Amino acid sequence: MADTPFSLETERSEDAAAIEMLHETAFGPGRYARAAFRLREGVDAVDGLSFAAWTHERGPEGGERRLIGSIRFAPVELAGQRGLMLGPLVVDPEWKGRGVGLGLMRLALARARELGHRWAILVGDAPYYARVGFVRVEPGRIRLPAPVDPARLLVLELEPGALDGAAGVLAPAH
Ligand SMILES: CC(C)(COP(=O)(O)OP(=O)(O)OC[C@H]1O[C@@H](n2cnc3c(N)ncnc32)[C@H](O)[C@@H]1OP(=O)(O)O)[C@@H](O)C(=O)NCCC(=O)NCCS
Repeated sequence: MADTPFSLETERSEDAAAIEMLHETAFGPGRYARAAFRLREGVDAVDGLSFAAWTHERGPEGGERRLIGSIRFAPVELAGQRGLMLGPLVVDPEWKGRGVGLGLMRLALARARELGHRWAILVGDAPYYARVGFVRVEPGRIRLPAPVDPARLLVLELEPGALDGAAGVLAPAH
């Protein structure tokens, strides 16, 4: 990563306000109505899997480094099996297309495997998330508390076979 203009670091509690601002910029107030938000509501992000991206580039005034991306996961449950819901994943619009999002996902998913997490799910654009291994779920097999476009419901088995036969309603895990 030495030649990249950003670094990926474990999220610290003091990063929360900057991350919230990125969410506001990228998703706007409509974020509270999304199906994925409803699964995360009132649930702490999964320990050890929250990372932030920081730019090394100086601003026009030579200023400080700046938080430009964030990834978190929520704990979820499907048919009695615990898993991860990826999100929010957010990148500063000025930094789009420079590898921040993929870098955050690769780092966090590798850590998730090390920590023994077995599967992850998300709602998002299949062509993007396919780049880290997510695949579409067969329509009707997994339902969320609010309707989602089935083409955007994607899973990744961190342990092969972890979701074999699993079906039902995805719920927050506490
Ligand atoms: C979606 C998002 C996380 C992508 O992050 P990013 O840092 O811009 O993406 P990366 O630079 O890591 O990846 C860029 C590559 O993915 C591709 N890509 C990006 N978004 C894509 C999408 N929605 N569908 C298909 N491909 C996509 C780019 O074309 C690029 O391909 P290339 O490497 O062949 O040029 C970011 O744009 C963002 O925060 N968007 C707003 C919030 C959002 O939608 N979050 C996801 C839902 S929770």
